[in-house]
Parts: sequence; C-alpha cells; structure tokens
Amino acid sequence: MTVTAVVGAQWGDEGKGRVVDYLAQHADMVIRYQGGDNAGHTVVNEYGTFRLHHIPSGIFNPNTVNIVGTGCVVNPDTLLEELADLERAGVDTNNLYLSSRAHVTMPYHRLLDGLREAARGGKAIGTTKRGIGPVYSHKAARVGIRLGELRYPDRVRDRLRIVLPRVNHELEMYGHAPLREEDILAKVAAWQDAIGHRIVDTVPMIRAALEQGRDILLEGQLGAMRDLDWGIYPYVTSSNPLASYAAVGAGFPARYLERIVGVVKAYSTAVGAGPFPVELKDETGDKLREAGQEYGATTGRPRRCGWFDGVAIRYSAWLHGFTEIAVTKLDVLDSFPEIRICVGYRLPDGTITQEMPDVPTLEQVEPVYESWEGWMTPTGNIRRWQDLPHNAQRYLERIEELAGAPIRFVSVGPERDQIILR
Ligand code: GDP
Ligand code: IMO
Ligand code: MG
Repeated sequence: MTVTAVVGAQWGDEGKGRVVDYLAQHADMVIRYQGGDNAGHTVVNEYGTFRLHHIPSGIFNPNTVNIVGTGCVVNPDTLLEELADLERAGVDTNNLYLSSRAHVTMPYHRLLDGLREAARGGKAIGTTKRGIGPVYSHKAARVGIRLGELRYPDRVRDRLRIVLPRVNHELEMYGHAPLREEDILAKVAAWQDAIGHRIVDTVPMIRAALEQGRDILLEGQLGAMRDLDWGIYPYVTSSNPLASYAAVGAGFPARYLERIVGVVKAYSTAVGAGPFPVELKDETGDKLREAGQEYGATTGRPRRCGWFDGVAIRYSAWLHGFTEIAVTKLDVLDSFPEIRICVGYRLPDGTITQEMPDVPTLEQVEPVYESWEGWMTPTGNIRRWQDLPHNAQRYLERIEELAGAPIRFVSVGPERDQIILR
C-alpha cells in the first residue's frame, strides 16, 4: 500500500492532472483535497483531451474510486458540465463520489468574486472569478452550505436567511440586482436531484481503503506559491495546496502520508497578479509561452512565463516535503540555445539570499541567474533517461539538486505515454 500526494511545486499548472492520470492507472482511489473549479487539470489520453476542474484525474480508470474531498468547494453547475463532457467521450463516471462535508459554491459566491475583483481595479488579485475567496470565507465564518445539506431545503433556507441579506447588501453596493431566495432554493433542489446520489460520508470509504492497504493518490490543486498561508499573500488562493493539508482535506491521520511527489515544471509560469521575480517580459518569455502553450486551462488567460526559479523550489520542497519529483514540460525547452536558472534573489541592500522573502521584500528582489547550454534536440519521443541529451540530463540534475529530492518522472509531452521513469 502507498498513500501518495501529487502536488504543485510552483504557481500552479505544473502538470498535476497529467501526472495523476499516469499514476492513477494503478491506483485504487484518487482524492482531491482542496480547491474548487479554479483548478484546470489537463489530461490527454485515449479518451481525448479534458480540462478537469472538480473531478479527480483518476476518473478515466474504471477501477479507481474518485473522491471530491471535504476540503474542496464544489460548484454543482460546473461539476454537471464536466460529467456531461466525460460521459460524451465514453468515460464511465459511476466511480465519482462527493464528500457530504465539502462546501457548495453558490451563485452569489461567483458573482461576488467577479464584482470584488472589478472593484479592486489595478489592485486586483487576478482570481479565476470562480467564487473561491467568497465560498471559503463563508466556510470560515460558519455560514456556508455543505453538499450534505442540499437534501434539507429548510436548513438551506435558514442559512440563506442569514447570508442573503448581507450578500444582497454588497451586491447593491456594486449596483447589482439582489438575488431571490426562491431562485436559489429552486437551484438547490435541481442540484440535489442531479448529484444527490453521489454525496456520501467519505470517512468509512477512506478508512476502509487504508485498512485494506489500497493505493491512494491525493491530487493537489494549484501550487505552494499560492497557498493561503505560505504563498505570496494576498495574491493567493483561499485554501492550502500544501501536501500536509491532504490529511485534513481528505480526512485521514497524517502519519499515513508516505510519498509526496512534487510536480515541477521545467521553467516558471504564473497566472494572476503578485510578485514573480523570474518573469520575462521579452521575446524569451513570449517564446516560452508559445512553445509551452501557456494559456490558462480555466480562464484562457496568457500565463506569465520565466526561467526556472530555484529559490521558489527550495522553499516549496521544504514546505511540501517532497520524497521525489516529477519534472514536466522538458520538451518545451528543446529549442532554447541558452537556458537559465535563478539560484538566488538579490535583496535591495545588495546581498543575495536563497530564502524566500515575504511579499514586501519579494517585490523588490532581482533574480540571480546561472546559465546552462541548451540541448537543441527534440525530446518528445525519448522514453529512457539514458537517451536524453547530455545537457538535458545535466539541467535536470541541477533541478534535482535545488529541489533536494530525486527525480522519478520526466514528462516530455502532454500525452499519457510521453513520460520517462527513472
Ligand atoms: P495542472 O493544473 O497542474 O494539471 O496543469 P495544466 O493542465 O493547467 O497545465 C499543464 C499544461 O501542460 C497542459 O496543457 C498539459 O497538457 C501540458 N503538459 C503537461 N505535461 C507536459 C509536457 O511534459 N510537455 C508538454 N509540452 N506539455 C505538457
Ligand atoms: P491548477 O489547479 C494556476 C491563481 C489565480 C490567482 C490566485 C487566486 O490548475 O494549478 P482564485 O480563483 O483561487 O481565488 O485565484 O490563484 N489560480 C491558479 N493559477 N492554476 C490554478 O489551478 C489556479 N487556481 C487559482 O490566477 O492568481
Ligand atoms: Mg491548471
């Protein structure tokens, strides 16, 4: 038995979906433990190309139980669209379960996210506008609605009577028409009809899987640099992508977590605002964006691109506690004659640090780079470590050194089999 978390090492979009899809071929259970439909996990396999927002990337294996865990927030409308897309492609979705304790992203959460972002003007966080901040705020304020409550309209009505006047007050402030309780209750009833049969108490399921020694994958959303506590606050999400949260968000004792696979993109990308010292606002950045097709899987926004950030990796490797790493998108660097790695940040006083500073300082640092010779050879068809160009091996070994964890997987393309095991 192994309990393995697959987590984002950087700013999200590292290729977690791709890695989970590969590993889930042999997993008994895949659990998403935090986040909501802000996630866009791309999976390319024999069924087609999918951008999963809520559904774990193990859904393609009919023998894998897939769970949207307690730490997640679920927008049933998005979920239903995703289910329809999968079913149209012939994927059996009967193996998908939703935790009764996960919170529901209500229509007002999404509305408020968009309106609050617009009101921030130039100071916007650049959220995905999926209602993530508002729904997790309501969870913390204890006025949220959980999936397991959808079947009790009276309870939902009572909660709405607390929440809706405040929500409508804020909507009015933004010049938006108020929402009506009846409309929301009608939606809630429709959701219960459509997904009620999937809503379960996940505790006995996960406990039984652990007691029976099953292989379990925990699929993280986003990456360490956007963690609510440890990321570049306030330009973060409202949940904790860190691997330690997997135990809380899925619901099992932390001591069961055995392997932590850090998914590490071979260069850096970020969507949304906030300090990003390695960002290249030049032709090299544009070349990375085009070669890597770096456009948001959820919002379609062009991603900010830059060289590999060794300071961020060192920080993230410590916080997540990688036992191993999976480097993705190596092939994107195939046509770069020179490749750089940021190995330190120069602080305003001229000293160089390898420690991740807090945001006010991070906004003022200059990256310090090492230069590496590229390999200028296509790697997409390579399947063995020893067949990789020498310069690619050296570059990967440098990443390994900075992450302080062994490379077990190298992804050289988006398709399931474009992977090297080491
Ligand atoms: P996630 O959110 O971490 O699951 O990552 P995304 O799906 O948002 O972004 C990763 C993108 O890179 C997707 O379009 C993947 O299909 C693609 N991808 C993943 N691994 C590789 C790889 O090794 N090479 C290339 N060229 N593309 C990859
Ligand atoms: P996956 O799981 C990349 C970013 C947003 C914004 C910040 C907060 O596919 O890696 P939110 O909507 O969560 O309130 O936005 O986090 N962000 C992501 N960036 N990949 C994601 O998910 C993201 N989910 C949120 O751009 O900067
Ligand atoms: Mg993504």
